[in-house]
Amino acid sequence: MEKIGVFYGSTGGRTEAVVKKLQHFFPNNECEFFDVAKGISEIKNFNNIILATPSYGAGDIQDDWAGNLSNLEAIDFSDKTIGLIGCGDQYSFGAFYVGGLRELYNVLERKNASVVGFTESSGYEFDDSPAIKNGKFVGLVIDDSFDCNEILKRMATWAEEIKKSFK
Ligand SMILES: Cc1cc2nc3c(=O)[nH]c(=O)nc-3n(C[C@H](O)[C@H](O)[C@H](O)COP(=O)(O)O)c2cc1C
Repeated sequence: MEKIGVFYGSTGGRTEAVVKKLQHFFPNNECEFFDVAKGISEIKNFNNIILATPSYGAGDIQDDWAGNLSNLEAIDFSDKTIGLIGCGDQYSFGAFYVGGLRELYNVLERKNASVVGFTESSGYEFDDSPAIKNGKFVGLVIDDSFDCNEILKRMATWAEEIKKSFK
């Protein structure tokens, strides 16, 4: 399998800490990490891609990602496979849970990109989430402030799933 490009935005460092655990679940593949505050030009060099964002405001994508959405839109995704990760707080922002994840997905959907690794929304407590499509989250959803014990288990299951589609 080819190496994996992991692109994340992280205002407070939690999403960065989450994605940095990913290498553990891809022991045979190098994960390269990119903070999107420095841009997303490296995406073109990867076919296996993971994009991660927390949510701010009322379910909005993180600021550094917001500044890069037009760059994301300009990328040719024809040979690329993408897994998405959304970090959020289900109890404090339960009406807009991981809304930023949906903003990433919307761009990729418009581009007909291959997004893999949708997950069940059971096991979380929230009122509503823009990141649900046809009953599933459009990626891996992590609430790092509450369900710490679940994080590694969820990451492991998700990593196994998206590996099947990575090149
Ligand atoms: C001002 C503020 C607004 C937030 N809004 C949302 C939100 O709308 N939806 C959500 O799921 N989480 C929301 N969160 C929770 C963050 O997304 C969560 O803490 C995340 O782990 C932060 O990631 P970071 O440290 O990488 O920036 C908010 C947090 C703050 C401080």
